[in-house]
Amino acid sequence: MDIAKYFSEKAGEVNACLDELLPRPGAGQMEGVLFEAMRYSVFAGGKRLRPGLFFAVLRLFEMDDRPYLPFACGLEMIHTYSLIHDDLPAMDDDDLRRGRPTSHKVFGEAQAILAGDALLTHAFNAMLQTAACAAPERLLAAVDYVARQSGAFGMVAGQCVDIVCEGRELGAEELRYIHERKTGALFCASIAGAALLAGAREEEIADLTEYALKLGLVFQIADDILDEIGDGSKLGKPVGSDKKNHKTTYISLMGLEEARRFGEKTAGEAEAALQGFGARAELLRLLPRYFLHRDC
Ligand code: IPE
Ligand code: IPE
Ligand code: MG
Ligand code: MG
Ligand code: MG
Repeated sequence: MDIAKYFSEKAGEVNACLDELLPRPGAGQMEGVLFEAMRYSVFAGGKRLRPGLFFAVLRLFEMDDRPYLPFACGLEMIHTYSLIHDDLPAMDDDDLRRGRPTSHKVFGEAQAILAGDALLTHAFNAMLQTAACAAPERLLAAVDYVARQSGAFGMVAGQCVDIVCEGRELGAEELRYIHERKTGALFCASIAGAALLAGAREEEIADLTEYALKLGLVFQIADDILDEIGDGSKLGKPVGSDKKNHKTTYISLMGLEEARRFGEKTAGEAEAALQGFGARAELLRLLPRYFLHRDC
């Protein structure tokens, strides 16, 4: 199975829907700069992995994915907002994202913060656009879950601890705590969110949540490795950001070779979480190694 092709096909569908969903700047509109800033970061590229994960799980449950495109776009809006805020001077203070100057470099800090705020809130309007096709109780459960994973019990908590711990040498458990939240939580939102929309059984949701957390950890281990030895022109963001900000990463903690081994072990655990799904989880089963060995 060609995974890169799968993600790029899904990205095409997602991009077309994002274009429909996001507000457009119009002539003489005083808040036009906000709409411009929202679109600037969303359409700067981005691999659209979270929507791809979401669709892979809908496929697992043999659901038609087209009606759920706005939900997937909501996930991408939340992710893009997290990147805009992650790059701010008060956070990682990075100048490049998705191959372009970061939002605050182009629009100033205030508008970058607002573009992030607006993407986060717009995401919930987008997700609720699936109300016409999704059973109300499933949609409610999925949106509630995405909100929890994105906020104070998920991604934002991870970002908080990531900042609180800057400059301090962390242990493996603390680092896992951060990575599972700052990155794993939106993977959970995408994967278990889709399972909730599909009306999956409790055990299935538990297995997929375990898979999502491990997959997120693998993804962030690879992100840490790429921040150390990656090619900035492929990544579209600066390498060396973690060192600059005195972050503990799996490389600073255990060295490159051990970090790679830990990544392989965690990828194996992610695959194992899918055991109950048999052959129909083939695509999901291939993703942990694919994410670990990526170069962008
Ligand atoms: C970057 O995520 C932020 C992390 C969680 C490490 P991606 O690597 O998925 O970023 P885009 O969406 O492709 O720009
Ligand atoms: C941040 O992790 C993940 C989120 C944006 C929530 P990083 O700070 O490592 O992400 P990059 O490397 O800037 O993409
Ligand atoms: Mg960060
Ligand atoms: Mg960062
Ligand atoms: Mg990083």
